[in-house]
Amino acid sequence: MAYFEWAEDMVIDQGPIDEDHRKLVQLVNQLHDATTEGRGRDVVGEILEQLIHYTAEHLGKEEAAMAQAGFPHLERHKVGHQAFVGQLQQLQCRYQEGSIAVAAQLSTVLRDWLSLHIRRSDKELNTFLQQRPAPSPPRPGH
Ligand SMILES: [Fe+2]
Ligand SMILES: [Fe+2]
Repeated sequence: MAYFEWAEDMVIDQGPIDEDHRKLVQLVNQLHDATTEGRGRDVVGEILEQLIHYTAEHLGKEEAAMAQAGFPHLERHKVGHQAFVGQLQQLQCRYQEGSIAVAAQLSTVLRDWLSLHIRRSDKELNTFLQQRPAPSPPRPGH
C-alpha cells in the first residue's frame, strides 16, 4: 500500500485538477520513498524542489479554473493556499539550512494537507460544478 493513496472521494473535476492532484500524490510518495530509503541529499533535494514547484503551480492553475467557473468561495480558498505555500517555504528553508529530517516531515505535511484540503476545500468546487444549472439550450429565433 502506498504511503499516500489516491481515492475516489478525491475526484474534483474529472479533468486537469484531478490530474494535478494525482501527480502530487505520486510525488509525495516519491519523496517518502526517497527519505525512508535513506537516499542522498541531492536525490531528496531534487524531489523536494519538484514537489514544491509543482504544488505552487497547481494552486495557481486551480485558482484560475475556479475564477473561470465563477466559484463563489475563491477568496477564502486562496487564503488557504497562501498559508500552505508559506508553510512549505519555511520547511524548504530549514532543509536548505541542513536539516535532512525536514524532508521526511515534509512528506507528512504534504500528505496530510493535500488529503484534507482536496477532500474538504477543493471538493466545494466539485459540489459547485454539480449544482450549477446546465447551460440552457439556444432558443429558436435567438
Ligand atoms: Fe488542489
Ligand atoms: Fe485548493
